[in-house]
Amino acid sequence: MLDPVVAVDRLRAAYAGPTKRRTLHAKGRFYGGTFTATPEVAGLSRAGHLSGAPTPVVVRWSNAGGDASVPDPKPDIRGMAVKFTLADGTSTDLLGQTSPRFPTDDPEEFVAMTEASLRPATFPLFLLRHPAMLPAVAAGLRAKAIGSPVSFAEVTFYPIHAYGWVAADGARTWVRYVFRPVATAADRLAEKFTGPDRLSDEMAARLTRGPVTHEVWVQVAGAGHDPHSAVSVWKGCRELLAGHIVVTEELADPETGGAPTVFDPTRVVDGIELSDDPILRYRPSAYTESVNRRASQHL
Ligand code: HEM
Repeated sequence: MLDPVVAVDRLRAAYAGPTKRRTLHAKGRFYGGTFTATPEVAGLSRAGHLSGAPTPVVVRWSNAGGDASVPDPKPDIRGMAVKFTLADGTSTDLLGQTSPRFPTDDPEEFVAMTEASLRPATFPLFLLRHPAMLPAVAAGLRAKAIGSPVSFAEVTFYPIHAYGWVAADGARTWVRYVFRPVATAADRLAEKFTGPDRLSDEMAARLTRGPVTHEVWVQVAGAGHDPHSAVSVWKGCRELLAGHIVVTEELADPETGGAPTVFDPTRVVDGIELSDDPILRYRPSAYTESVNRRASQHL
């Protein structure tokens, strides 16, 4: 397995830009709101935030690139990271991005693909040499995963990995999340935003009008659906509306005050279990390395 220090070295080398930054998803802003689960899900997981009581969330909407100086209009994958803080003070995170499928189970291939994608002239050759990645890339193209959205409020985000929901009686259900926007092109603001920070400018204006909501859907694994791989496809699975994330305000960036804030897809609470998905299991080591670097340059 690729050494996470080497992964972060390679990803940081791939992108220009200031050193005090996330290695990927360098440009983003923090927002606050609540998550409220639908009554259907409490029977499937005993997790506190799935009980139906409103749970505070911190959301970070981001551009996926590692160079925070790239202007928002440039096409990119986008991210939506969510931290749910339960009544007992514990928290759990979900990190979504705009590509509905992940291309590989091997972290080294993900790093190599990220590097190759920054060289558009030779990227098709890279894909030809990695044909197993093509279905995920095609799914991303169909979903317009690399785009220039008008607003984060209109974007669908996919947290990719499966998680085990464990009920009060111990029964386990494997689920995959999708964050679907409630906003549509029909309810856009009249004002047009065109500047380098147009996504956060638009969100600031939109939040003065009212909250921004994403529905949280879960796909429920059935027979033959593998929860232990980021690349597995769950054809024909049942979907369930699990709740709503309602963002009401922008928050100050906690890192400006010197408090590194990490979203970690393996941070779970009682009632949620991790799969053995190798990408999921690898990610915390790379994220810890990334935050250690920016913290040491920061504090
Ligand atoms: C081997 C695979 C992956 C590697 C090596 C990787 C690496 C990284 C790194 C180093 C960061 C910066 C973390 C920080 O400094 O706090 C990051 C952020 C992020 N990644 Fe990944 N990533 C991987 C897979 C994924 C997947 C599968 C998703 C989505 C499902 C994802 C979504 C995100 C998001 C949304 C952020 C920004 C989090 C924030 O706003 O703080 N990544 N990734």
